[in-house]
Amino acid sequence: MFMRKESAIGSAKRGSPSSRQLPDIRLAAFLVRVDVELRDPARRKKNKYLADNFAPVSAETTHQDLKVVGKLPKALDGVYARTGPNPVLPISGDYHWFDGDGMVHACRIKDGKVAYSNRLVQTNRLKRERKLGFSVYQRFGDMRGFWGVFHAGLGALRMKLGVTPQNEGVGTANTALVYHANKLLALHEGDLPYAMRVLCDGIVDTLGRITFGGKVKHPFTAHPKVDPITGELFFIGYQMDKKPPCVWYSGLDKDGQLQFDVKVDLKEGVMMHDMAITQDYAILLDVPLCFRPEVMVTHNRLPFVYDKSRPARFGFLPKRPKSGKEVVWLELPAVMIFHVANAWQESKDVVKLFACCFEDFDLDIGEEEMPDSAQPRMREMTFNLATGEATSRQLADVICDFPRVPEHLTGLRTRYAYAASMDTTKLAGNFEGIVKFDMSATNGGTVAGRLSHGTNRWGGEAVFVSASAAEDDGYLMTYVHDENRNKSELVVYDARTMSAVPVARVELPVRVPYGFHGAHITEAQLQQQVTAL
Ligand SMILES: [Fe+2]
Repeated sequence: MFMRKESAIGSAKRGSPSSRQLPDIRLAAFLVRVDVELRDPARRKKNKYLADNFAPVSAETTHQDLKVVGKLPKALDGVYARTGPNPVLPISGDYHWFDGDGMVHACRIKDGKVAYSNRLVQTNRLKRERKLGFSVYQRFGDMRGFWGVFHAGLGALRMKLGVTPQNEGVGTANTALVYHANKLLALHEGDLPYAMRVLCDGIVDTLGRITFGGKVKHPFTAHPKVDPITGELFFIGYQMDKKPPCVWYSGLDKDGQLQFDVKVDLKEGVMMHDMAITQDYAILLDVPLCFRPEVMVTHNRLPFVYDKSRPARFGFLPKRPKSGKEVVWLELPAVMIFHVANAWQESKDVVKLFACCFEDFDLDIGEEEMPDSAQPRMREMTFNLATGEATSRQLADVICDFPRVPEHLTGLRTRYAYAASMDTTKLAGNFEGIVKFDMSATNGGTVAGRLSHGTNRWGGEAVFVSASAAEDDGYLMTYVHDENRNKSELVVYDARTMSAVPVARVELPVRVPYGFHGAHITEAQLQQQVTAL
């Protein structure tokens, strides 16, 4: 059933940028050398996002017929895949967790057997850097201090000179995976999607970057929403550097064709990582993590400031608008939101939104211990579009993020959500378990279950896979890393019981670095995939 194929990343066949000749390598090298030599030396230090289980792996491998402890249920037949950062070229400067090249770690499950493989997403960025032999693209982690401004200037120059061509995109596809229109999409909010194809043995190959025939001229969020009823996909893309700053809201039909693309102007550029849909609306999250590049110089910080004096604004658009001017904004006191659990309509005018919210925030994550208020907790927000009233309540005092609900309930009333719970005595790589929320509970009882991965065992987002029509009859899948043994596992839990004893676990022969978001691709979806763009 499974094939075997492996290669060290350093010896992988080098790709070639498709759309234009490689620019003069000496020019690229000169610009990078200037960049590195003028860097703030104080920041050249051991980076926690390159250490321990954040460290990249050095080979793409495939391993079959892995030992299963317990039993893999039939409902899991298909592929569990998760992407995350895995920097390939040596890091010459600073580095943030957001910066690494996307690598997909996939477990192919069929008839109780499992195979594991990992593959890099072959982005234009990665192909170009491999051809050059050194890292040349602007990194998020470099955007600090006076030299952050200088790096940004050099980055713009590199783009203008064609060293990093703008039309090829700059994304790493390291953030999330979504299946739509017979394609698995690897996503990064600074670029367009990369289409992937999952082979019969579970290897995930890159088909290429989706450009929508040049019609989409803005980035594509890592968290689009697939309408479970119509098969449409709705997405945003924010542009902080435009005047005025803006966010685009766009829709694809079930076949992946662009249906609309409207622009909503913003008062200030903000990081807008997620969005939500309901039956009739799309919800934009204008939360106050504001783009203020001056703080790179004045405070030696990344150029994003969490401004508590500003409200969180929630923009409601008709789901298929004719213009961005149709947006209606409602406000709540400031919160930062990276991830939405779900949203739905209680009635025509009343909308519920559940999301993990930070009451305080600092994007220089892990640089210093954050106060308790700067940790995310699940909140229920209720909006009345007829009266303009908005209210919010915290569900439970549980620090958590990366919430998931069953895919077939996106935008619809949902009772349960599953989030990765955190032990904040550890600064990074600290997802200690999974918490199950009962979003219907109004007076206590909102925590319907909670499990821990075990002592010094750390997980991440848990993807829910349904076993039947009953909402919580299903399984939670995640990679867990045992830091005592330096071993990674695929772990499957029963979502209904939330027992900490896994239904099945599979020790993987290689380490799976901590990463971001994943997806379960069903057996039927595997069969329906397109074979080329
Ligand atoms: Fe995310």
